[in-house]
Amino acid sequence: MTPLRSRPARCRTAVLRRGAVLATVPVVLAALVGATGPTAAGGSGAGDPYFPLSGNGGYHVRHYDLTLRYDTSSRHLDGRAVLDSRATQDLSRFDLDLTGLKVTGVTVDGTRAAFRRDGQELVVTPRHTLRAGRDFRVTVTYDGTPKPVTDPDGSTDGWIPTDDGAFVAGEPQGAMTWFPANGHPKDKSSYDITITVPQGRTAVSNGVLLGQRTEHGRTTFRWRESRPMAAYLATATVGTFKVEQYTTADGIHVYNAVDPREASAAAPVLKQLPSVLAWASRLFGPYPFRSAGSIVDHAPDVGYALEAQTRPLYDSAPDLSTLVHESAHQWFGDSVSLTAWKDIWLNEGFATYAEWLYAEQHGGDSAQKTFDALYAHPASDHLWAFPPGDPGSGRNIFDTPVYARGAMTLHELRRAVGDPDFFRILRAWAAAHRDGHGTTAQFERLAGRISGKRLDGLFRVWLFTEGKPKDA
Ligand code: ARG
Ligand code: ZN
Repeated sequence: MTPLRSRPARCRTAVLRRGAVLATVPVVLAALVGATGPTAAGGSGAGDPYFPLSGNGGYHVRHYDLTLRYDTSSRHLDGRAVLDSRATQDLSRFDLDLTGLKVTGVTVDGTRAAFRRDGQELVVTPRHTLRAGRDFRVTVTYDGTPKPVTDPDGSTDGWIPTDDGAFVAGEPQGAMTWFPANGHPKDKSSYDITITVPQGRTAVSNGVLLGQRTEHGRTTFRWRESRPMAAYLATATVGTFKVEQYTTADGIHVYNAVDPREASAAAPVLKQLPSVLAWASRLFGPYPFRSAGSIVDHAPDVGYALEAQTRPLYDSAPDLSTLVHESAHQWFGDSVSLTAWKDIWLNEGFATYAEWLYAEQHGGDSAQKTFDALYAHPASDHLWAFPPGDPGSGRNIFDTPVYARGAMTLHELRRAVGDPDFFRILRAWAAAHRDGHGTTAQFERLAGRISGKRLDGLFRVWLFTEGKPKDA
């Protein structure tokens, strides 16, 4: 296992530093990057062109400790976030991502820090410059009525109120609707999430439930995810849930929370979770986490599921194929994370191809048959609207070409290298980048190395060339 954790983007800083040797350049560069303060300010984004303000420059969050209280009737959220962070450059000030809500105080290492809001940026100026390499602790207290964000494709994500609580799904940018975050998947952290809700409601998050306690008509749930997690995969979903807990034969702790209105439809599918995880482990290598489960909410307006780390989140009872998809994301997307949203096919193409593989190995259509049915779509079909390796903008990241043509790309790879090498590649990918990050270029190199074949033509055509590929 190679630790491949990458630090948040420092490209802007790197440019500034290199530029600083030329006397006149810093002024120009400062204008270019929109920096108005000293050069030791952390960047307002992680350098992702699709979501330029997502994430921040200049520091890495090692651990988030979130303490939340949600009143399901008034929809008021009280929050306290403690971020154990490390400066990756000298920092005279830095940003966090937070939208809506009212910030009532910020401290850095226990000392009051100045802060201001600027759109989705919470700009913090500590009393003293934080030197590169230094660990520091930021505490933010805040409250208000969280609202979801509207994504470029018109969908909503973040804290989405429901009739009995909230459906909390942050992909791609909704983490900032409920906690101050370094909200780009480049930065992965461990989390403690403690949520207090009215007695009778359940608050479900990632990882293991450390404890739960009811007092004065409220119940507090303490959750911990100790593996590195991207902010968008964190959840704090609240509702009236039936809870089921057990440990699988492989020692994985399962926690399922199901809205009673979805219970009968969900039961036969959730029952398959241990066998789906065991199946996926045979194909992709060991399950990357110690806990698992599902949150099945009744949130008819959401329209999608999310692979929340260890505990996928469904807006209604999922079908088996969706359960397989979100389970596969635990390897591809959650354990191995993106460094840029344009690489989204590494998540969605892989999870979709897992659905095809599951069908093929469980009496359904072969992956070849699924591929052929898609390939039959005429060149004018939306499936061929853009190449999955270059979706062009945040508007397209969850669109059909990413999912379906992304999966077709993997099928083409499988046909080119043969089954033994194909599955070797998938396992090596999950193992080498576990708890870290991976890029499309790294995947292409790995596939080439393992198969010993020249695959650049295949990837160029299937991932990066406009229009329907010829001769599949
Ligand atoms: N990653 C999710 C899936 O498994 C989709 C999330 C969609 N998010 C959104 N804001 N539309 O397919
Ligand atoms: Zn997906």
